Amino acid sequence: MSFPVHRPRRLRKTELLRNLVRETRLSPASFVYPLFVCPGTSVRQEVASMPGVFQQSADRIVEDCREVEGLGIPSVILFGLPETKDPRGESSLQASGVVQRAVEAIRRAKLNLAVITDVCLCEYTDHGHCGVIENGEVANDATLAILAEQALSHARAGADIVAPSDMMDGRVAAIRKKLDENSFQDLPILAYAAKYCSGFYGPFREAADSAPQFGDRRSYQMDPANAREALKEVALDLEEGADMIMVKPALPYLDVIRRVRVEFSVPLGGYNVSGEYSMVKAAAQNGWLEEKRVVLEILTGIQRAGADVILTYHAKDAARWLK
Ligand code: PBG
Repeated sequence: MSFPVHRPRRLRKTELLRNLVRETRLSPASFVYPLFVCPGTSVRQEVASMPGVFQQSADRIVEDCREVEGLGIPSVILFGLPETKDPRGESSLQASGVVQRAVEAIRRAKLNLAVITDVCLCEYTDHGHCGVIENGEVANDATLAILAEQALSHARAGADIVAPSDMMDGRVAAIRKKLDENSFQDLPILAYAAKYCSGFYGPFREAADSAPQFGDRRSYQMDPANAREALKEVALDLEEGADMIMVKPALPYLDVIRRVRVEFSVPLGGYNVSGEYSMVKAAAQNGWLEEKRVVLEILTGIQRAGADVILTYHAKDAARWLK
């Protein structure tokens, strides 16, 4: 039975009907807004390659968080731009570190926000890699203890969720063990489980000042060509104790989001990364794309693919448009 019995256009006739049968409903309730914390006070410096995104000192971060809360967005993820960098990323461990201080400031403001902290070394090492260097290579096992210490210091500062993004093997287990030994057995871990070695992180590396000073991240981040391997990475992270998982970037990997959604039942995040944001911004500024329309279409697509949670720099704009 086909046309003229079936006419799919019948249910597209009015917005009322379209809304009634809509399968995917985008809501700010599933957004996480990324923030870049720098030292100092009253600092708010726009990132050239990411219009509308700023490096901000903790006091300004708190103001931004107030706005985020008011827009109905439940969560932020913090990235740090430390005062000093060294080969081992020591500044990432200090109780007085940029991220730790910002978490405390957000806590003091008593905002109803889940504060996620990105756990990684690349923003804190002078070489810009996500782990320590031994014999010219990013050393896996030597990095684990530092990541675990960093996660613990974020927990002590008051983080609600820690999110390791380094892609070292075994880091979720190392962090879980460290947290448990220090009475943080109830603190969830959001693992960047399937994180691809992507050109779409370009603008972020300006925002977080975290570009590798030699080589690239191919020996630890995933090969863009692999999807089955993503399922293995997710399975391993879950075995090690991850509570939530993430696929990153989102747009070139919607198939991976879908496959992970089908195979696993835990909450799944999709990270709509810096390059995906900047492309839209640049095209919109040139009048080549209608920003509101494409942003909502992109976020709907990420959710439709299977993401429960969407990390996106568009979060505040999208929340306003969805009101
Ligand atoms: C690493 C990290 C990166 C991003 C989040 N965490 C960059 C990288 O791996 O080079 C990228 C986020 C984005 O591009 O928006 N700490």
